[in-house]
Amino acid sequence: MTMDIAATALPRPRTRPHEKVDRTARPRRFVMVRPTHFAVDYVINPWMDLSTPVDTSRALAQWEALRQVYIDLGHTVDEVGSLPGLPDMVYAANGAMVVNGRAVVARFAHPERAGEAPAHADWLLDHGFVSVHTRHTNEGQGDLLLVGSTILAGYGFRTDRRAHQEIADHLDMPLVGLELVDPRFYHLDTALAVLDDTTIAYYPPAFAEHSLATLRQMYPQAIEVASADAYVLGLNVVSDGLNVVMPAAATGFAEQLHHHGFRPVGVDLSELLKGGGSVKCCTLEVHS
Ligand code: ARG
Repeated sequence: MTMDIAATALPRPRTRPHEKVDRTARPRRFVMVRPTHFAVDYVINPWMDLSTPVDTSRALAQWEALRQVYIDLGHTVDEVGSLPGLPDMVYAANGAMVVNGRAVVARFAHPERAGEAPAHADWLLDHGFVSVHTRHTNEGQGDLLLVGSTILAGYGFRTDRRAHQEIADHLDMPLVGLELVDPRFYHLDTALAVLDDTTIAYYPPAFAEHSLATLRQMYPQAIEVASADAYVLGLNVVSDGLNVVMPAAATGFAEQLHHHGFRPVGVDLSELLKGGGSVKCCTLEVHS
């Protein structure tokens, strides 16, 4: 077993193993983008490596399997059409933040991804959402995660802290900023998973001290995951309140989830990991 000094020094999760908790699934609405044009053509995060070959047909098959898992679980999946020249478009979560009929369209940090935003804006318009654009950078649900009726907002690498007020105002919701400090965990959804309206899991070393204090105060029962799980993007999950669709390689986290009464559903998105994303990155949730 690999020991993680930082993680072992932290308080252990308080829930006892095999505690019986009643979890319930709620049907969700997702938006996904097929990885037709997926590639690693540039490097904008530490996971991307131009010398690693990408198998696009394998990426397509893995993505299709993820989509099928959602459908089998009773969720709805809409699609935004994939565009040539935008190899990261498969990471649909970054396109927007959508809650209660209102949407904030992404303003990407890197010019390579800027062209994705209009495609998401068009989809939102066609589907009746009132959208706004922010003046400052925001990367949608990569950094903006809804827990109950609070938005947790990552900053430090992509989403600009100055966008937070604009987002809170438009969505009319409280927003709590969380500072990310490790470039491997450049989006909040790589370091923190929302499991239901009150339950989260996170990787403590990804956060600045003051943000860890905030998390510990807000979520004293949170699940803290180990490095081995965080480093396969194990926190990049989609939960419906019971079923947690997650990278299959995050076996330690899967066990923790099981002990907390959730049902881990492992999928293999190894091709999409080459771009620095996994389950959640590929999934924009339309929150209602
Ligand atoms: N290559 C993409 C980027 O660096 C990956 C985005 C992953 N998406 C996410 N929601 N974390 O922007």
